[in-house]
Amino acid sequence: MSFTSTAEAPSTTSGLGADPHWWRQAAVYQIYPRSFADADGNGIGDLRGITSRVGYLQDLGVDAVWLSPFYPSALADGGYDVDDYRDVDPKIGTLEDFDAMVAALHRAGIRLIVDIVPNHTSDRHEWFHEALRSPKGSAARERYIFRDGEGDAGELPPSDWTSIFGGPAWTRITEPDGTPGQWFLHSFAKEQPDLNWHNREVHEDFLQTVRFWSDRGVDGFRVDVAHGLAKDLPANLPSQAELDAIPKDGAHPLWDRDEVHEIYREWRGVFNEYDPPKIGVAEAWVDSARRPTYASAEGLGQAFNFDLLEANFDAAQFRETVTFNLDLAATSGSSSTWVLSNHDVVRHATRYGLPPKADGEDKAGTHWLLTAGTTPELQAEAGLRRARAASLFELALPGSAYLYQGEELGLHEVAEIPDADRQDPTFFRSPGFSVGRDGCRVPLPWSSAGETFGFGAGEAHLPQPEWFSRYSVQAQDAAEDSTLNLYRRALQLRRELQGADTLEWIELPGAGGPGPGDLGSEGTGADGSASEVLAFRRPGGWLCVTNFSEQAVPLPAGEVLVSSQPLSAEVLPGETTVWLREH
Ligand code: NOJ
Repeated sequence: MSFTSTAEAPSTTSGLGADPHWWRQAAVYQIYPRSFADADGNGIGDLRGITSRVGYLQDLGVDAVWLSPFYPSALADGGYDVDDYRDVDPKIGTLEDFDAMVAALHRAGIRLIVDIVPNHTSDRHEWFHEALRSPKGSAARERYIFRDGEGDAGELPPSDWTSIFGGPAWTRITEPDGTPGQWFLHSFAKEQPDLNWHNREVHEDFLQTVRFWSDRGVDGFRVDVAHGLAKDLPANLPSQAELDAIPKDGAHPLWDRDEVHEIYREWRGVFNEYDPPKIGVAEAWVDSARRPTYASAEGLGQAFNFDLLEANFDAAQFRETVTFNLDLAATSGSSSTWVLSNHDVVRHATRYGLPPKADGEDKAGTHWLLTAGTTPELQAEAGLRRARAASLFELALPGSAYLYQGEELGLHEVAEIPDADRQDPTFFRSPGFSVGRDGCRVPLPWSSAGETFGFGAGEAHLPQPEWFSRYSVQAQDAAEDSTLNLYRRALQLRRELQGADTLEWIELPGAGGPGPGDLGSEGTGADGSASEVLAFRRPGGWLCVTNFSEQAVPLPAGEVLVSSQPLSAEVLPGETTVWLREH
């Protein structure tokens, strides 16, 4: 391994052990860097802020951090518009700060997964500038997806395609001679031109990027839009309606094409040059049957499953999701991933405090829930109670749990951001339809008072609501029953209890009314309420029991290890999870 110059000692993995399977059951904490901790007081969280909070992460008990983009960016899409893949945004630090952060994390026994964004660059990337300066048909244009427009003078876009963020997926450029020119494809915002992965130079450049960060000590990569890189656009483009009707079975022009895996096989070659090998986790919104290929040992190694995130707080949906995904992960030899919140969706405390999603509602619709003017009334307390139960359920599952900053504080979505302060391009590109994703990206409250609740000295880049005070780290640190201490206890136990990555569902007998429980035999309560209680046993003889109903049920026998609500009198309250050691 080679190291470029570092401020501190190079960040090796020594102290972390050489286990190549460290990721299989890791608890991974997602940091959205601009909203985590602001050390330099410019209102934007930074790498030195992260380094200053490594002790917090260590106390929390996470195994790894996934760091959302920290690269130079105009923040047209919160950093997922990258100007330069091999540098740090000066607004949030330097390469030396990055090295110091890696070293501090590793010293604390925490691995680092960085986000990589290969579907598109930003429109400020030097390649895109070169493409704009260069003529039609040039090698510089070939790195992106340029097309002539339709209409007599090419004044109409090449197709009627819409971008994922709303609005057209094609934007017209001005040619170097000043005349209106070609159009480029952007699956997301217009500041995010899609790369052309038929171009060998694009492959080589990303291999260089993977090596660059691997050499700097990162342990893995979260791959943004992993299912979108390989595209095959026919000469005559289908309409959006025709495109939507094409099955996504490996031959769709834009999504989840079979040849995308050739890219990840190349990356795997680089991953395996390191000891232990680097790990990749695919963000691939694909048909679940196609997920294992992304997660295979020849590919990235792991893929996000968002099924739990998309489920309501509902016993049947949770059980089906878990069984299905454990089986699915086994087909690729990977481990399953579990996610309840991330930077793209409404926080789960809030989702569970809003009316449940109707059957068949748009899969990615979770962040459309808070639509301007139509937000249903939030049941904040119930939402948090259910979120605590769901999180404790998630942390008991075999596989990796991906946690999103602030969920350990039980934070709700911030719904009250004035339009003038919003940043998310989905808000601007879908007027009146979605308020976007800023509500889960508000800077964290570290202390109960102070202008930015301890986030930093300057004005926070998104406004924090008054109620953040009650949810701050300071407010929760010493409070025994706080959500923060629930996560700390659960994460510590998770490490101690970790065994083989399997579970066995258990049927609970008579869950119809309060009274001491008994495990081991089949049966449901006379009133059927046992179907609202999920219980599973993990290797080593411990159980996770979740009561999804609003009514209390008998607490099953066993030593209570942790519970999401205070317990008394051998009763498992409604909407509560408990872990038990079997006698
Ligand atoms: C998925 C990322 O999670 C999201 O935040 C981003 O906007 C899109 N990919 C585009 O990069």
